[in-house]
Amino acid sequence: MEKKKFATHHGMSDLLPGEVENWQVLENIIRETARRFHFQEIRTPVLEQTELIARGVGQLTDIVSKEMFAFDRGEDRYVLRPEGTAPVARAYVQHHLAQRGGTQRLFYIGPFFRAERPQKGRQRQFHQFGAELMGASGAAADVEIIAFMKSIYEQTGIDNTTLKINSVGDPESRSAYKKALYDYFQPLSDKLSEISRRRLETNPMRILDSKEEEDQPLKADAPKITDYLSKASREHYEEVRKLLEQMDIPYETDPFMVRGLDYYTETAFELVSPDLGSQDALGGGGRYDLLVEEIGGPPTPAVGFACGIERLMIACEALGIALSETSGPDVYIVTRGEEAARWAVKTMPGLRSQGLSCTMDYAGRSIKAQMKDANRQQARYAIIVGEQELQDNRYTLRNMSESEEVTLSLDDIKKTILT
Ligand code: HAM
Repeated sequence: MEKKKFATHHGMSDLLPGEVENWQVLENIIRETARRFHFQEIRTPVLEQTELIARGVGQLTDIVSKEMFAFDRGEDRYVLRPEGTAPVARAYVQHHLAQRGGTQRLFYIGPFFRAERPQKGRQRQFHQFGAELMGASGAAADVEIIAFMKSIYEQTGIDNTTLKINSVGDPESRSAYKKALYDYFQPLSDKLSEISRRRLETNPMRILDSKEEEDQPLKADAPKITDYLSKASREHYEEVRKLLEQMDIPYETDPFMVRGLDYYTETAFELVSPDLGSQDALGGGGRYDLLVEEIGGPPTPAVGFACGIERLMIACEALGIALSETSGPDVYIVTRGEEAARWAVKTMPGLRSQGLSCTMDYAGRSIKAQMKDANRQQARYAIIVGEQELQDNRYTLRNMSESEEVTLSLDDIKKTILT
């Protein structure tokens, strides 16, 4: 009987050699950028309490109401984290990070999980890098976060992005705006899509996020939040824009951008790319001044961003950007006979301790097959060892790209390879 074959779950991918190297280069860029912006790494568990996410992200959001991978064990309710901000805020409260003084500048890289319908750029397990700046209320913090995010894309060579910004205001601005939206959409409700009709009663701002065709013409004339901002919110938004201009960071305002998470206050932003198709957001974020308090911490204004790594890779591919160069081993030892294979095993540690990467044949193949393997693996050099070489203590060193061979002692071989 044929054995069952297994595969990854729908929307979850293996990352194979050849791709992993691109991720490593990106991770190095992220860590180096974090160092320059003086953000420190935080790592939180993949499982969180379901209630934290429900409260933090918002019961009525798609993420909480439809997309959580959640399960119970005994009394405990677990959820695979769908995003990083609520977990970081939880860690901030749990470990009293506020008491360390000043602002907390934290970044993270890791896997996140949402039970969405998979499509290009939308997986059920995806990866984000993100940063949270906690304990700062000024517009300079918002712009610092945006500059951090943008800097990473600049270093990868992705230069055709658009930064969209909006303000979702403070709670006072938002309740005035929600009422205006309700008053506008209510008389049109029989023309709205079914989902938007439902949102009209629960959270009319989510109608602005609708992708349904019949909602689009109705959205166009809807009231704009910028006309309902309180004085403080308006001033904050103006200051953010002024600072962005001062820093030569181009942006477009989008008064209908509301984002899919409920914790936002004031500034909201997204970085979009024309290379991603319908899932066009490379990343997004904003201010969330009430979240820390909402989950039991002290009043803590905060702002952050998160970006999808898979989407960044799609943009790289579309633009023909190769983040990493694949490289083969420095040395492949080609052996003839058992004695030579023993010599190779004994010799490799010395090569490795000098920083060289090396490998050999482990399958007892012919010299010809080993040379083919060395070529396939793109080895820089082959050291060819047989009985005669062992007797003479001199070995054949082949420069694989130039197809040149010399016979040298092991010491001279090392010198040649290392220069
Ligand atoms: P978000 O907009 O939900 O924000 O996600 C940020 C980015 O993660 C998206 O722009 C996208 O690139 C990527 N992403 C989200 N879902 C998926 C998916 N199913 N498949 C592939 N990529 C995905 C947040 O998560 C907030 N925590 C951002 C934030 C940080 N706000 C303040 N601080």
